[in-house]
Amino acid sequence: MMLVAEKAYAKLNLILDVAGKRPDGYHNLRTVFQSLTLHDTLVFSQRKDSRIVIAGNVPGLPTDSSNLVWRAAERLRHTYGTQQGVTVELVKNIPIAAGLGGGSSDAAAALRGLVRLWGLPSEPDVLLSLAAELGSDVPFCLAGGTSLGLGRGELLEELPPCPFYYVVLANPGFPVSTAQVFQCLQPKELAPHPDVAGLVRAIREGDRSGMEERLANVLERPTFRLFPAVEQLKIRMEAHGPSLMCGSGPTVFTLFSDADKANHLHADLLGQGIDAWRTETSVSHDAGGKQDA
Ligand code: C5P
Repeated sequence: MMLVAEKAYAKLNLILDVAGKRPDGYHNLRTVFQSLTLHDTLVFSQRKDSRIVIAGNVPGLPTDSSNLVWRAAERLRHTYGTQQGVTVELVKNIPIAAGLGGGSSDAAAALRGLVRLWGLPSEPDVLLSLAAELGSDVPFCLAGGTSLGLGRGELLEELPPCPFYYVVLANPGFPVSTAQVFQCLQPKELAPHPDVAGLVRAIREGDRSGMEERLANVLERPTFRLFPAVEQLKIRMEAHGPSLMCGSGPTVFTLFSDADKANHLHADLLGQGIDAWRTETSVSHDAGGKQDA
């Protein structure tokens, strides 16, 4: 039986600015996406029938058409006029609704994996537009690495890899709805705008301190207002290194150049009963050989 496996990498946003609300209800963003080595794994196997079956290791994870993996499979079939079926084993390690792009990355991995499993043509532009229909972060997750994201986040400009960091993630243990956070964002909370151009320059120059001092996310204020525990968590993490909320939250990350310091915070958080992960920044999985296999 033919099997295909794909890793779906988590992401964070090193900077996230909102330029304004659009007529379609979305917001125009200026953000820098960064992949992490933390990943889910998806294993795709062919079926004799035409069903799309999703089996996951997380109780409560939807396995029907509300799952982005299911929708990615259905859209791909529709686009290429195939009725092939698939069973997808989804091994989730990335926390759900956590600001880490887990669902988006699973959808991107499904597009990549099913093109291989079903023997479809490799057409990057078609995959990118399918990805954008599935969600604002899905196009970035197709290749990962480090990219500037504009528009809803789907218009991408690839950047050189950001300097390597060990990354500690901490999650306060409840999900956050991205739509709710954007709804609560008040225009006055956007000033002063984060220095996106400066952060991009710092990445291009490999300037670690220039990067660290520009970490910013305008979604912190609405999320902190809705969930004060997230701000408390950030205050705690900031004592250890440059820290920021991931996406619309509630996960908070801290960057480290020193592995021992990262391990120390990770152990400290776990010891206090807080969900925490120790991961690393990662380069694009399109980069050919640079990504861990
Ligand atoms: O695109 P995605 O489905 O991931 O977005 C989830 C929700 O987040 C949207 O329905 C919208 O409310 C909000 N959003 C936004 N502007 C963006 C991205 C997301 O308002 N650029």
